[in-house]
Amino acid sequence: MEIIIQPTAAAANRVAARLFANVIRQKPSAVLGMATGGTPLALYRELVALQLDWRKITTFNLDEYVGLAPAHSQSYHSFMWENLFRHVNIARKNVHLPDGRAKDIPKFCAKYERQIRAAGGIDLQLLGIGTEGHIGFNEPTSSLASRTRIKTLTPQTRKDNARFFGSEEQVPHHCITMGIGTILDTRHCVLLAFGSNKARAIAAAVEGPVTSMNPASALQLHPKTTVFLDEAAAAELKLQDYYRWVYDHKPDWQKI
Ligand code: GLP
Repeated sequence: MEIIIQPTAAAANRVAARLFANVIRQKPSAVLGMATGGTPLALYRELVALQLDWRKITTFNLDEYVGLAPAHSQSYHSFMWENLFRHVNIARKNVHLPDGRAKDIPKFCAKYERQIRAAGGIDLQLLGIGTEGHIGFNEPTSSLASRTRIKTLTPQTRKDNARFFGSEEQVPHHCITMGIGTILDTRHCVLLAFGSNKARAIAAAVEGPVTSMNPASALQLHPKTTVFLDEAAAAELKLQDYYRWVYDHKPDWQKI
């Protein structure tokens, strides 16, 4: 794992945006894995400002709430169109999100996995992290080999996401999420975490044992993961000085 600690979230987002922009410029038909939540908002604003060409880009989102229609204000469909897709020239047919209203969820999930494979696999996967270490909506004790499927949200996740819904009662109990196995199959993972409420989960994910109790720790098994942190999210890392030194002394050809 490469750990990039920046003084602020804004600085980290600028570097992360350069990484995404490089992929989009170098491979105009790249397949991108997208994430939702509060964390990626600033990155999406940076990407919009860069005015990249998204015509041939294909996207697959990590997750969606079960029961919400795409037009629901809190669906991840709405989130993605509102915060990214409507601001860039992406083709609607190239955008994929789990269907929270699928009648046959296992069948839909198998199709989603087939669509990812048919698109050639995901080149760059954006991830946030939950306060208990979830990636996508793979809650603690998710199988590290899991594929896209239905999951039940933990009380903590429903509490964390209540801010988007107005109240906890309105947060759905179920979601469809790419599995940890699906995420591990992507070519490059980019994990963003900002703020002190993510520090514990980040320390466990990066420096703790690989365990389904912190699903993000499975990224230790991924050949190429880049973690972008602000100072607050990095605060509980034991080797933070080492990560800073490594980043400051990267050879030019490795620089983002
Ligand atoms: C959400 C999403 C995750 C996200 C995480 C953190 O509910 N399903 O993909 O990374 O929880 O959310 P936030 O960025 O709002 O802290």
